[in-house]
Amino acid sequence: MYDREKMKEGKATLEIGKKKIKLDILKGTEGELGIDISQLRAKTKLITVDEGYCNTGSCISDITFINGEKGILRHRGYGIEALAENCRFVEVAYLIIYGELPTPKQAQNFSLLLEKHSDLHSSLINHFEGFPPDAPPMAIMSAMLNATMCLHKELLNTSSKGKVFDNTAAHLISKVRTIAAWAYRKANGLTFNHPNPFLKYCENFLHMMFSMPYNEYVVHPDVEKALNLFLILHADHEQNCSTSSVRLVGSSHTYLFSSVSAGVCALWGPLHGGANTAVIKMLTDIHKTGKKLSHYIEMAKDKDNDYRLMGFGHRVYKNFDPRARILKKQVDKMFESLQIDDPLLEIAKKLEEIALTDDYFIERKLYPNIDFYSGILLRTIGIPKEMYPVLFSIGRMPGWISNWREMLMQKHPIGRPRQIYNGPAPRDFPIDKMNK
Ligand code: CMC
Repeated sequence: MYDREKMKEGKATLEIGKKKIKLDILKGTEGELGIDISQLRAKTKLITVDEGYCNTGSCISDITFINGEKGILRHRGYGIEALAENCRFVEVAYLIIYGELPTPKQAQNFSLLLEKHSDLHSSLINHFEGFPPDAPPMAIMSAMLNATMCLHKELLNTSSKGKVFDNTAAHLISKVRTIAAWAYRKANGLTFNHPNPFLKYCENFLHMMFSMPYNEYVVHPDVEKALNLFLILHADHEQNCSTSSVRLVGSSHTYLFSSVSAGVCALWGPLHGGANTAVIKMLTDIHKTGKKLSHYIEMAKDKDNDYRLMGFGHRVYKNFDPRARILKKQVDKMFESLQIDDPLLEIAKKLEEIALTDDYFIERKLYPNIDFYSGILLRTIGIPKEMYPVLFSIGRMPGWISNWREMLMQKHPIGRPRQIYNGPAPRDFPIDKMNK
């Protein structure tokens, strides 16, 4: 919990006509500064306009720090590189939610809780049966998160601490993986695999996805490592579109499960979590048509064409995305150790090379983001492309939970932005026309 008084670092002066008002400047741990406008409307009747919230800090948070210019990402003070090197996803999830890395005892208790809450209520099988085989897995995920609450009344709570919160969070982190695997099984006309309590988090997910009757899926250690890494790299990313959605929805004091189900919907779009699927579609298309890469680069640069180089650019990272660097290394390692050859990887590397030396991309600071290589990694594990955003949502769950919790603990007011109305001025109702 922050102390606003201690964060104050001087004043900014705002001049409106002849009126001057002083606004506090707040300073964060890493020296980042923000003008506190929380009293602006009360003092001046003015609001600020900031479409896309590019310049708006919606909260003061202890969870994640990003410096987009320097390519820094830290969770609770730990660099993403160290977390990716030394942790499993479950440990990073604990860190993000509770603020500290777990002690061995805490890690064990957390794992036990995840195991306890991993299976789905038997009635939920009927819900899955109701979806057509081609139902988008993100729609299933969002719907099933809400449906789960209907069968576990204990999840209808807004506790942000204590055992009730611990259980709700564990239900969510654990069940999201089962829902994801079952969505895949349903789409492929396969029977559902229940979680195996003897398997670790990622192994268990792959077992639920790929085990067949009398043919248990055996997880290659490199594949398990790669999946852990993928989930760690997606675990939180401060106030992105889906996390802001979770906060906004949760600010009406709705439940954790319903808030994150809104997060899943926000993540689905191709500009956010759907980008990994879009990258694979783009690379497959390039491969199939056999057209020169310069053709696609020119299309992406053409202002009259909506085509974008998917997996390039980021609202925050303007030099490089540290997650993309880590992921690219892992992809290379995996391809070597599993001796795989994928033409899409070659195309991706060439495309990156060309884009990084092109003035259009250099001037706009457009670099490969995490999604540029994540689809290739998931494809190697055998995950179909429709499931990529679902995997992203499993990874992002700790971040959503932690942000929802922080917002409640800080007693945020309900989220309710303002607007500037620019529609028709008041006019007479056309009573004559309506009567004809
Ligand atoms: N290809 C071609 N041009 C681009 C691209 C791209 N991928 N991204 C941005 N631009 C151009 C854009 O046309 C604009 O040019 P101009 O200044 O001439 O009008 C300029 O760069 C700034 O773009 P913007 O859309 O204003 O930037 P933004 O910060 O609003 O958008 C973005 C960030 C990620 C939505 C955007 O870069 C994009 O659409 N990238 C492709 C989709 C993608 O890979 N999304 C995954 C994001 S990372 C995962 C996550 O964290 O969610």
